Amino acid sequence: MENLLSQINNLKEEINNFYSDDKNPAEAFRIKFLGSHGSVKSLMGEMKNVAPENKREMGKVLNEFKLFAENKWEELKTTTDDRAPATDSIDLSLPGDALPIGSRHPISIVRNKIVSIFQRLGFAVAEGPEIEDDWHNFSALNLPENHPARDMQDTFYVSQNPAWMLRTHTSSVQVREMEKGKLPIRIICPGRVYRNETISARAHCFFNQVEGLYIADNVSFADLKQTLYFFVQEMFGKEIKVRFRPSYFPFTEPSAEMDISCLICGGVGCNVCKHTGWVEILGCGMVHPNVLENCGIDSKKYSGFAFGMGIERITMLKYQIKDLRIFSENDVRFLKQFESAV
Ligand code: DAH
Repeated sequence: MENLLSQINNLKEEINNFYSDDKNPAEAFRIKFLGSHGSVKSLMGEMKNVAPENKREMGKVLNEFKLFAENKWEELKTTTDDRAPATDSIDLSLPGDALPIGSRHPISIVRNKIVSIFQRLGFAVAEGPEIEDDWHNFSALNLPENHPARDMQDTFYVSQNPAWMLRTHTSSVQVREMEKGKLPIRIICPGRVYRNETISARAHCFFNQVEGLYIADNVSFADLKQTLYFFVQEMFGKEIKVRFRPSYFPFTEPSAEMDISCLICGGVGCNVCKHTGWVEILGCGMVHPNVLENCGIDSKKYSGFAFGMGIERITMLKYQIKDLRIFSENDVRFLKQFESAV
């Protein structure tokens, strides 16, 4: 009986440590332990040698052991399916799963288009920091401290150092380029800007602008008009009409705003153009002599024009999008409707 008990213990350990690299480990287990030549069967055969007074007790131990082995078998049968498939079941000639391709953000599509139109006219791309100092964002642009026009752009200041702010417009990049002192300058500056605005369908606390600057000898307002006229025709088509309205910006003199004929109603009047037939798309003007002098450029010798436009606004007009909050919501159902990334 002692002998039989130690055999059972050994087998239990063997069962607990059972491992087979056979294709079907449950079946290998059954053959080894539970089949007609298996170890459990042969243990059962030993019962005839057990002394009659021990038979009852031994029978119980053996039955429990058999149940233990059968449970392990059931367990193996259920886990077998999860194991890695045998190599001969992989068909290497099958095509792989295609990775879904993303699409460009509509703001990026329109920014790239704006950039490429101006590049064809010889404008180079310039960039500047999003955290600016007062000089580049305001003072050099003819907006000295306490100038009322500073209120037009509610500014986010950096709390650790209020001398720094998030730039409120890309005009700050003009200043940085002029300060480099290399003339002529013909640049466009796309980038993100920030304003402390209440978020609504028409305003956000961050958005994108493209700034343009051209400085050389004898640059005139006619050059400005022709450049912008070319731009809108390339952007929106030859049918587009433009008009310039006098306006005010501290950094340009004279200043203007440019409207285009409404793309939605073709100029007849609708909600988007507030029934005027025109929508404003940019501000522009001749660079103010004070700005040139602030940046070390001789205003008697050189002149230039500048313009600035919001990319969101142009994108909304181009794709007829009514709410600009959707640009920053990352909703894939919206984003995937635009040109794919490749
Ligand atoms: N910086 C102006 C704004 O953010 C836009 C602008 C207007 C830029 C006229 C210019 C300009 O360069 O000449 O509202």
